[in-house]
Amino acid sequence: MSKSENDRQAHWQSVYRDRPAGEVSWYQAEPTLSLSLINETDIPLDARILDVGGGASILVDRLLAHGFGNIQVLDIAARALAVSQQRLGDLADQVRWHTSDITQFQSDQQFELWHDRAVFHFLTRSAQRQAYCKVLEQSLRPGGHLIIGTFAVDGPKRCSGLDIVQYDASALLEVLGSQFVLQEQRRECHLTPAGKAQNFAWFRLRRLTD
Ligand SMILES: C[S@@+](CC[C@H](N)C(=O)[O-])C[C@H]1O[C@@H](n2cnc3c(N)ncnc32)[C@H](O)[C@@H]1O
Repeated sequence: MSKSENDRQAHWQSVYRDRPAGEVSWYQAEPTLSLSLINETDIPLDARILDVGGGASILVDRLLAHGFGNIQVLDIAARALAVSQQRLGDLADQVRWHTSDITQFQSDQQFELWHDRAVFHFLTRSAQRQAYCKVLEQSLRPGGHLIIGTFAVDGPKRCSGLDIVQYDASALLEVLGSQFVLQEQRRECHLTPAGKAQNFAWFRLRRLTD
């Protein structure tokens, strides 16, 4: 890992060391919008799903409860994944966990669905975004689904003390390239545990078949 990747990992590890998972600004009691968008994809229950930067989110719990049986969760912070693993208990064995920077991830499999809530927007340098897109292209099967939630253009400019990039559909499509077709976009006003409103933009896209 380069120094900046180490720094990024140290930052996120310390976040999950210092704050209970229910107090971080991105905490949500229910991943309602994610579940709704995933439902729209109509993927089968055995579809391979990757939650990128899943952190301590309960999305994985809800997907398991729904009957999805092929879920993988990735995060740069092992501590975040440990929170989810502890919460799930024995059910954690039904999930594959990866501690990795997504821009460095090498998957031995391809996914049907890639879900990213508030991770991609932290990639403020073009080289990082290119690395993310390369991993995405290697790991999402042609015809697969991509769901990304970022801060909207009228949303916050920083999160967790870090700068972020705000997106609308055209800005996102410009980064992702012509392999992706926008299926749907939605807006969400997320209320942080401290009661602050944060505008999110959500995008559901499909990767073209070759
Ligand atoms: C704002 S939080 C969102 C967490 C989760 N998606 C949710 O909705 O609750 C961002 C998450 O991405 C992780 N993260 C940040 N940069 C990452 C990277 N380059 N690769 C993998 N995970 C990353 C952090 O550790 C953190 O858990």
